[in-house]
Amino acid sequence: MADAPATSPRRSLLMWGVGGMLVVLLMAAGAYALSGVGARDNTAGVLRPDDPQVVTLGARIYTQHCAACHGARGEGQPNWREHGPDGLMRAPPHDESGHTWHHPDAQLIAITKYGLAKLIQQPDYQTNMPVYDGVLSDSEINAVLSWIKAQWPTEIQARHDQVNAQYQKSPGR
Ligand code: HEC
Repeated sequence: MADAPATSPRRSLLMWGVGGMLVVLLMAAGAYALSGVGARDNTAGVLRPDDPQVVTLGARIYTQHCAACHGARGEGQPNWREHGPDGLMRAPPHDESGHTWHHPDAQLIAITKYGLAKLIQQPDYQTNMPVYDGVLSDSEINAVLSWIKAQWPTEIQARHDQVNAQYQKSPGR
């Protein structure tokens, strides 16, 4: 095939793509500059996704206690949006495609430690999600959730920081 002329639709599409990337990069740089130092503000949270020691411990706990249901990399069970044969919810992903990061730290800890039934105040709620009170210590629960958070893309981690900040401000918590 002969070389395409410089103005072929394919080439201009490519140029547009490069231009679009530049715009996205510039916007990201702007947001970065606006956010001050460019670091995430995790001060409202108690999880420590930026602490390598905590995250390493968390990875071990995750593999041992959570991966069987939530998947080795937090991808969740297949068809997790549908109920399982037992009529109960399947284990959802903990990665950015899931709902985990919509919960502030305090709720994630409460779900893991005391269970969903307690959090939603429905003692009869049937679920396959275990209760880890007495199984994992508070620092182990913090570590495993910190590992989960450390797997999220930086942007999702930053949004989760905001979820924490918002939660801290909410009067009814
Ligand atoms: C036996 C299977 C199983 C194991 C093991 C398990 N989970 Fe779950 N988990 C579930 C299921 C099922 C749900 C969905 C529960 C529901 O909504 O009824 C869930 C939900 C959750 C949620 C709420 C997610 C959301 O989007 O609201 C969190 C947080 C969670 N699990 C954390 C953990 C952690 C941390 C571990 C390991 C320490 C763990 N789970 C181990 C089955 C499991």
